[in-house]
Amino acid sequence: MKENGEKLSETAFRGMLDALSDGESPGREGWCRWLTALDEGQDARLRARAAEVSRRHFGYGVYIRGLIEISSYCRNNCYYCGLRHSNRFASRYRLSREEVLDCCREGARAGFSTFVLQGGEDGVQDDAWVAGTVEAIREEFPAHAITLSVGERSEAAYRSFREAGADRYLLRHETRNDVHYACLHPAEMSGARRRECLRVLKSLGYQTGAGMMVGTPGQTVDCLLDDLAFLEELEPEMIGMGPFLPAAHTPFAHCPAGSAALTLRLVALMRLRFPRALIPATTALATLDGQGRVAAILGGANVVMPNLSPSGVREKYAIYDHKACQGGESAEGVRQLEQELRSIGYHIDYGRGDYV
Ligand code: 5AD
Ligand code: SF4
Repeated sequence: MKENGEKLSETAFRGMLDALSDGESPGREGWCRWLTALDEGQDARLRARAAEVSRRHFGYGVYIRGLIEISSYCRNNCYYCGLRHSNRFASRYRLSREEVLDCCREGARAGFSTFVLQGGEDGVQDDAWVAGTVEAIREEFPAHAITLSVGERSEAAYRSFREAGADRYLLRHETRNDVHYACLHPAEMSGARRRECLRVLKSLGYQTGAGMMVGTPGQTVDCLLDDLAFLEELEPEMIGMGPFLPAAHTPFAHCPAGSAALTLRLVALMRLRFPRALIPATTALATLDGQGRVAAILGGANVVMPNLSPSGVREKYAIYDHKACQGGESAEGVRQLEQELRSIGYHIDYGRGDYV
């Protein structure tokens, strides 16, 4: 991804920032300027404005979501992911329903009011298993939010999860550009099917999360412009964006990582375009850049997703290399996060943090 060298005048930049802050879509050409024509000072001002808008809606509170990585088995073969089916070196595990419930209990004790169940598309954790697990969590935790991130499923399955008590669903579209999608996935996967899933999820009343990786092999400015147009069309309640990071034993093991700066810029832009959206400071960003989490929050992000998985399996959930991981125990992780946030004047908001 290259800057195009054509710098913006101060007047033009201020006009763009005010228009975007007023909820106006810049359109494809405008987005292109946002992605390619900012100098460092303008970038910093964009991010400061995004943080201001975030504080207007959420104050200095940052929502936490307890992430439970329920299975490292996956039937899919995404070229970028360390858990892809063909990776013979991946360590595989799946949590039992009771283990998932234990994670929720530990999370609840540590103050979490959202549980996120995330896993590969594991044939053993089938639709019935997921629905039953959601039901069991819902019964024990009637007031907690339950988020699922278990890939592409049928409409009937999504409906059954919802009826069992799931509130939210994360399913990144990964890239809106079909040619680029085909660079990242084998032929049996399709971007159109992924997008159809997202529409179904929205229609079932899930708070729905979409998003893309930044800097995947083959990604151009045009691909990102397609992503932005898609997000504007879908209007997801949650937007997850992280840099691509190489994963060993995958076709992209030796490709360069995505850019932290561009990821941060996209976070800020999405905050201004979707002021009330839930936008995480992603683990991928924190992995790429030790300051990434704090930088994201100071640039418009308002969610962090600490790991609640049993410590014995965390390193097995290796979607990319060197994944950042806070303290072994979740309560300790929360304390560390609280300190990190306090150091920049923010704090944890222990509420459910629904989209309103
Ligand atoms: N680098 C960064 N993000 C990745 N994901 C999968 N593999 C990688 C990688 N190598 C992201 C995808 C997926 C989410 C769970 O993790 O966007 O949707
Ligand atoms: Fe499976 Fe998700 Fe990894 Fe693709 S990104 S291989 S669907 S776990």
